[in-house]
Amino acid sequence: MIYQTPDALDLQLDRIPSLPPPRRVVLTTPTHFDVEYVINPHMSENVGAVNTDVAWQQWKALRAAYTALDHTPVLVNGQSGLPDMVFCANQTLPFYDPASDSKGVVLSRMHSEQRADEVPYYARFFEEEGYAVDTLPEDLDADFEGMGDALWHPGHHLLWGGYGYRTSPEAYEALGDLLDVPIVALRLVDPDYYHLDTCLCPLDARHALVAPEAFDDAGRALIDALFETVIEVPDHEARHQFACNAHCPDGAHVLIQEGCEGTNAQLRNHDFVPVELDTSEFMKSGGSVFCMKQMIW
Ligand code: ARG
Repeated sequence: MIYQTPDALDLQLDRIPSLPPPRRVVLTTPTHFDVEYVINPHMSENVGAVNTDVAWQQWKALRAAYTALDHTPVLVNGQSGLPDMVFCANQTLPFYDPASDSKGVVLSRMHSEQRADEVPYYARFFEEEGYAVDTLPEDLDADFEGMGDALWHPGHHLLWGGYGYRTSPEAYEALGDLLDVPIVALRLVDPDYYHLDTCLCPLDARHALVAPEAFDDAGRALIDALFETVIEVPDHEARHQFACNAHCPDGAHVLIQEGCEGTNAQLRNHDFVPVELDTSEFMKSGGSVFCMKQMIW
Protein backbone atom coordinates (compact mmCIF):
# COMPACT_ATOMS: atom_id res chain seq x y z
CA MET A 1 0.00 0.00 0.00
CA ILE A 2 1.33 3.46 -0.95
CA TYR A 3 0.21 6.42 1.16
CA GLN A 4 0.42 9.87 -0.39
CA THR A 5 -2.14 11.90 1.55
CA PRO A 6 -2.81 12.17 5.26
CA ASP A 7 -6.55 11.40 4.92
CA ALA A 8 -5.77 8.03 3.32
CA LEU A 9 -3.48 7.10 6.20
CA ASP A 10 -4.92 4.16 8.14
CA LEU A 11 -1.63 3.13 9.74
CA GLN A 12 -0.81 3.09 13.40
CA LEU A 13 2.82 2.68 14.18
CA ASP A 14 2.29 0.25 17.04
CA ARG A 15 0.37 -2.09 14.70
CA ILE A 16 3.15 -2.22 12.10
CA PRO A 17 5.40 -5.28 12.44
CA SER A 18 8.69 -4.56 14.11
CA LEU A 19 11.96 -4.49 12.21
CA PRO A 20 15.22 -5.33 13.97
CA PRO A 21 17.72 -2.49 13.54
CA PRO A 22 20.55 -3.08 11.05
CA ARG A 23 23.71 -3.26 13.14
CA ARG A 24 26.54 -3.14 10.61
CA VAL A 25 27.73 -0.03 8.83
CA VAL A 26 29.28 0.02 5.35
CA LEU A 27 31.62 2.83 4.27
CA THR A 28 33.30 3.33 0.90
CA THR A 29 36.83 4.70 0.71
CA PRO A 30 37.06 8.20 -0.82
CA THR A 31 40.06 7.19 -2.95
CA HIS A 32 38.55 8.64 -6.13
CA PHE A 33 36.14 11.15 -4.58
CA ASP A 34 35.91 14.49 -6.39
CA VAL A 35 33.39 16.90 -7.89
CA GLU A 36 33.72 16.36 -11.64
CA TYR A 37 30.18 17.14 -12.88
CA VAL A 38 27.07 18.94 -11.62
CA ILE A 39 23.96 16.87 -10.88
CA ASN A 40 22.62 18.80 -7.88
CA PRO A 41 22.65 22.52 -6.98
CA HIS A 42 25.28 22.08 -4.24
CA MET A 43 27.89 20.91 -6.77
CA SER A 44 27.56 23.86 -9.12
CA GLU A 45 30.36 26.06 -7.77
CA ASN A 46 32.56 23.15 -6.74
CA VAL A 47 33.86 21.35 -9.82
CA GLY A 48 37.55 20.75 -9.16
CA ALA A 49 37.32 22.33 -5.69
CA VAL A 50 37.75 19.21 -3.52
CA ASN A 51 40.87 18.99 -1.37
CA THR A 52 41.40 15.24 -1.54
CA ASP A 53 43.79 15.15 1.40
CA VAL A 54 41.28 16.93 3.64
CA ALA A 55 38.52 14.64 2.32
CA TRP A 56 40.53 11.61 3.44
CA GLN A 57 41.03 13.06 6.93
CA GLN A 58 37.31 13.82 7.23
CA TRP A 59 36.38 10.33 6.06
CA LYS A 60 38.80 8.74 8.56
CA ALA A 61 37.21 10.79 11.33
CA LEU A 62 33.80 9.49 10.25
CA ARG A 63 35.11 5.91 10.32
CA ALA A 64 36.59 6.52 13.78
CA ALA A 65 33.29 7.97 15.04
CA TYR A 66 31.43 4.78 14.08
CA THR A 67 34.15 2.63 15.60
CA ALA A 68 33.92 4.62 18.84
CA LEU A 69 30.19 3.83 18.93
CA ASP A 70 30.99 0.11 18.55
CA HIS A 71 29.96 0.02 14.89
CA THR A 72 33.21 -1.00 13.22
CA PRO A 73 32.69 -0.25 9.51
CA VAL A 74 32.84 -2.83 6.72
CA LEU A 75 34.71 -1.23 3.80
CA VAL A 76 34.05 -1.09 0.06
CA ASN A 77 36.79 0.24 -2.24
CA GLY A 78 36.05 3.40 -4.21
CA GLN A 79 36.73 3.00 -7.93
CA SER A 80 38.48 5.24 -10.37
CA GLY A 81 36.16 7.23 -12.66
CA LEU A 82 33.30 7.07 -10.12
CA PRO A 83 33.78 10.20 -7.98
CA ASP A 84 30.39 9.85 -6.21
CA MET A 85 30.81 6.20 -5.26
CA VAL A 86 31.74 7.27 -1.70
CA PHE A 87 28.04 8.08 -1.15
CA CYS A 88 27.23 4.43 -0.55
CA ALA A 89 23.64 4.99 0.61
CA ASN A 90 22.46 5.64 -2.93
CA GLN A 91 23.11 2.53 -5.00
CA THR A 92 20.99 0.07 -3.01
CA LEU A 93 18.14 -0.45 -0.57
CA PRO A 94 19.05 -3.28 1.83
CA PHE A 95 16.06 -4.92 3.50
CA TYR A 96 15.21 -7.48 6.11
CA ASP A 97 11.93 -9.33 5.84
CA PRO A 98 10.62 -10.10 9.32
CA ALA A 99 7.98 -12.51 7.93
CA SER A 100 10.52 -14.85 6.29
CA ASP A 101 13.60 -13.91 8.37
CA SER A 102 15.56 -13.25 5.18
CA LYS A 103 17.71 -10.38 3.98
CA GLY A 104 18.08 -8.90 0.55
CA VAL A 105 18.89 -5.77 -1.36
CA VAL A 106 17.16 -3.89 -4.19
CA LEU A 107 19.57 -2.31 -6.66
CA SER A 108 19.10 1.33 -7.63
CA ARG A 109 18.55 2.71 -11.13
CA MET A 110 20.54 5.89 -10.92
CA HIS A 111 18.89 8.97 -12.38
CA SER A 112 22.13 10.29 -13.86
CA GLU A 113 24.25 8.20 -16.18
CA GLN A 114 27.42 9.46 -14.46
CA ARG A 115 26.54 7.31 -11.44
CA ALA A 116 25.09 4.19 -13.13
CA ASP A 117 28.35 2.22 -13.08
CA GLU A 118 28.59 2.43 -9.29
CA VAL A 119 25.72 -0.03 -8.85
CA PRO A 120 27.42 -3.29 -10.02
CA TYR A 121 30.19 -2.85 -7.41
CA TYR A 122 27.58 -2.82 -4.66
CA ALA A 123 25.66 -5.71 -6.23
CA ARG A 124 28.86 -7.76 -5.95
CA PHE A 125 29.46 -6.63 -2.37
CA PHE A 126 25.96 -7.70 -1.27
CA GLU A 127 26.21 -11.01 -3.11
CA GLU A 128 29.40 -11.75 -1.18
CA GLU A 129 27.59 -10.78 2.03
CA GLY A 130 24.98 -13.46 1.32
CA TYR A 131 22.16 -11.09 0.36
CA ALA A 132 19.51 -11.96 -2.22
CA VAL A 133 19.99 -9.30 -4.92
CA ASP A 134 16.76 -7.93 -6.44
CA THR A 135 16.04 -5.41 -9.16
CA LEU A 136 12.98 -3.38 -10.12
CA PRO A 137 10.96 -4.96 -12.97
CA GLU A 138 12.77 -4.76 -16.34
CA ASP A 139 9.82 -3.16 -18.10
CA LEU A 140 9.34 -0.45 -15.46
CA ASP A 141 10.48 2.94 -16.66
CA ALA A 142 11.46 4.43 -13.30
CA ASP A 143 14.52 5.81 -11.53
CA PHE A 144 15.35 4.81 -7.97
CA GLU A 145 18.27 5.99 -5.84
CA GLY A 146 18.21 3.55 -2.95
CA MET A 147 18.57 4.96 0.53
CA GLY A 148 19.09 8.45 -0.84
CA ASP A 149 15.29 8.47 -1.14
CA ALA A 150 13.97 5.35 0.61
CA LEU A 151 14.34 5.30 4.40
CA TRP A 152 13.24 2.61 6.86
CA HIS A 153 11.21 3.82 9.80
CA PRO A 154 13.44 2.82 12.74
CA GLY A 155 12.13 -0.30 14.42
CA HIS A 156 9.16 -0.85 12.10
CA HIS A 157 8.55 -2.52 8.74
CA LEU A 158 7.53 0.76 7.08
CA LEU A 159 9.33 2.62 4.30
CA TRP A 160 9.44 6.38 3.66
CA GLY A 161 9.92 7.20 -0.03
CA GLY A 162 10.95 10.58 -1.44
CA TYR A 163 10.34 11.32 -5.12
CA GLY A 164 10.50 14.14 -7.63
CA TYR A 165 14.19 14.65 -8.41
CA ARG A 166 16.06 11.33 -8.38
CA THR A 167 13.40 8.68 -7.79
CA SER A 168 10.16 8.26 -9.77
CA PRO A 169 6.92 7.68 -7.83
CA GLU A 170 6.34 4.50 -9.89
CA ALA A 171 9.39 2.96 -8.25
CA TYR A 172 7.45 2.82 -4.96
CA GLU A 173 4.53 0.91 -6.51
CA ALA A 174 7.04 -1.73 -7.58
CA LEU A 175 8.90 -1.70 -4.26
CA GLY A 176 5.66 -2.05 -2.29
CA ASP A 177 4.90 -5.25 -4.23
CA LEU A 178 8.45 -6.57 -4.15
CA LEU A 179 8.97 -6.04 -0.42
CA ASP A 180 5.37 -6.37 0.75
CA VAL A 181 5.75 -3.25 2.84
CA PRO A 182 3.59 -0.14 3.34
CA ILE A 183 5.26 2.95 1.87
CA VAL A 184 4.64 6.60 2.71
CA ALA A 185 5.55 8.54 -0.43
CA LEU A 186 6.65 12.17 -0.05
CA ARG A 187 6.95 14.63 -2.91
CA LEU A 188 10.13 16.73 -2.75
CA VAL A 189 9.56 20.30 -3.92
CA ASP A 190 12.87 22.14 -3.44
CA PRO A 191 15.91 21.21 -5.59
CA ASP A 192 18.36 21.87 -2.74
CA TYR A 193 16.65 18.91 -1.03
CA TYR A 194 16.95 16.56 -3.98
CA HIS A 195 17.08 13.35 -1.92
CA LEU A 196 14.80 12.47 1.00
CA ASP A 197 17.85 11.97 3.22
CA THR A 198 18.68 15.68 2.87
CA CYS A 199 15.40 16.72 4.52
CA LEU A 200 14.10 13.87 6.71
CA CYS A 201 16.20 12.08 9.31
CA PRO A 202 14.37 9.42 11.32
CA LEU A 203 16.29 9.28 14.62
CA ASP A 204 14.30 6.55 16.31
CA ALA A 205 10.73 5.25 16.07
CA ARG A 206 9.34 8.44 17.62
CA HIS A 207 11.68 11.30 16.67
CA ALA A 208 12.73 12.77 13.33
CA LEU A 209 14.65 15.81 12.10
CA VAL A 210 12.82 17.58 9.29
CA ALA A 211 13.45 20.47 6.87
CA PRO A 212 9.82 21.60 6.36
CA GLU A 213 10.59 23.66 3.22
CA ALA A 214 11.44 20.48 1.34
CA PHE A 215 7.88 19.08 1.39
CA ASP A 216 4.37 19.99 0.30
CA ASP A 217 1.49 20.16 2.80
CA ALA A 218 0.57 16.51 2.34
CA GLY A 219 4.16 15.43 3.00
CA ARG A 220 4.49 17.50 6.16
CA ALA A 221 1.17 16.16 7.44
CA LEU A 222 2.23 12.55 6.79
CA ILE A 223 5.46 13.06 8.73
CA ASP A 224 3.57 14.72 11.60
CA ALA A 225 1.10 11.83 11.68
CA LEU A 226 3.65 9.05 12.10
CA PHE A 227 6.42 10.63 14.20
CA GLU A 228 5.47 11.63 17.71
CA THR A 229 8.13 14.36 17.84
CA VAL A 230 9.10 16.22 14.69
CA ILE A 231 12.13 18.45 15.22
CA GLU A 232 12.12 21.26 12.67
CA VAL A 233 15.62 22.20 11.64
CA PRO A 234 16.48 25.86 10.87
CA ASP A 235 16.43 26.27 7.09
CA HIS A 236 20.04 27.46 6.74
CA GLU A 237 21.33 24.50 8.80
CA ALA A 238 19.38 22.01 6.67
CA ARG A 239 20.06 23.67 3.33
CA HIS A 240 23.73 24.65 3.74
CA GLN A 241 25.01 22.40 6.55
CA PHE A 242 23.05 19.24 5.78
CA ALA A 243 21.68 18.98 9.33
CA CYS A 244 19.06 16.44 8.19
CA ASN A 245 21.72 14.28 6.57
CA ALA A 246 22.71 13.23 10.07
CA HIS A 247 22.67 9.64 11.30
CA CYS A 248 21.60 8.12 14.59
CA PRO A 249 23.00 4.57 14.58
CA ASP A 250 21.98 3.60 18.12
CA GLY A 251 18.96 5.65 19.17
CA ALA A 252 21.15 7.97 21.24
CA HIS A 253 24.11 9.51 19.37
CA VAL A 254 23.58 11.67 16.29
CA LEU A 255 26.49 12.00 13.88
CA ILE A 256 26.02 15.42 12.31
CA GLN A 257 27.92 18.06 10.36
CA GLU A 258 29.63 20.40 12.80
CA GLY A 259 28.15 23.82 13.51
CA CYS A 260 24.43 22.97 13.36
CA GLU A 261 23.88 24.82 16.64
CA GLY A 262 20.10 25.23 16.48
CA THR A 263 19.63 21.58 15.58
CA ASN A 264 22.04 20.39 18.26
CA ALA A 265 20.25 22.38 20.97
CA GLN A 266 16.97 20.72 20.00
CA LEU A 267 18.60 17.29 19.86
CA ARG A 268 19.93 17.78 23.40
CA ASN A 269 16.48 18.88 24.58
CA HIS A 270 15.19 15.51 23.43
CA ASP A 271 18.07 13.62 25.13
CA PHE A 272 20.06 12.87 21.98
CA VAL A 273 23.83 13.39 21.98
CA PRO A 274 25.17 15.23 18.91
CA VAL A 275 28.55 13.94 17.67
CA GLU A 276 29.90 16.68 15.43
CA LEU A 277 31.98 15.84 12.37
CA ASP A 278 33.39 17.98 9.60
CA THR A 279 32.16 16.74 6.22
CA SER A 280 32.77 20.02 4.36
CA GLU A 281 34.61 18.41 1.43
CA PHE A 282 31.71 16.01 0.85
CA MET A 283 29.13 18.78 1.21
CA LYS A 284 30.71 20.30 -1.93
CA SER A 285 29.19 17.31 -3.72
CA GLY A 286 25.81 17.59 -1.97
CA GLY A 287 26.20 15.01 0.77
CA SER A 288 27.13 14.55 4.42
CA VAL A 289 27.05 11.76 7.02
CA PHE A 290 23.86 9.87 6.17
CA CYS A 291 24.67 9.28 2.53
CA MET A 292 28.31 8.31 3.25
CA LYS A 293 27.24 5.10 4.96
CA GLN A 294 24.88 2.21 4.43
CA MET A 295 23.42 0.21 7.32
CA ILE A 296 23.07 -3.51 6.74
CA TRP A 297 21.78 -6.54 8.63
N1 ARG B 1 27.00 14.13 -5.78
C1 ARG B 1 26.11 13.13 -5.32
C2 ARG B 1 24.82 13.17 -6.15
O1 ARG B 1 24.39 14.23 -6.50
C3 ARG B 1 25.81 13.31 -3.87
C4 ARG B 1 24.92 12.27 -3.30
C5 ARG B 1 24.65 12.50 -1.86
N2 ARG B 1 23.74 11.54 -1.40
C6 ARG B 1 22.63 11.77 -0.69
N3 ARG B 1 21.90 10.74 -0.40
N4 ARG B 1 22.23 12.92 -0.33
O2 ARG B 1 24.23 12.17 -6.47
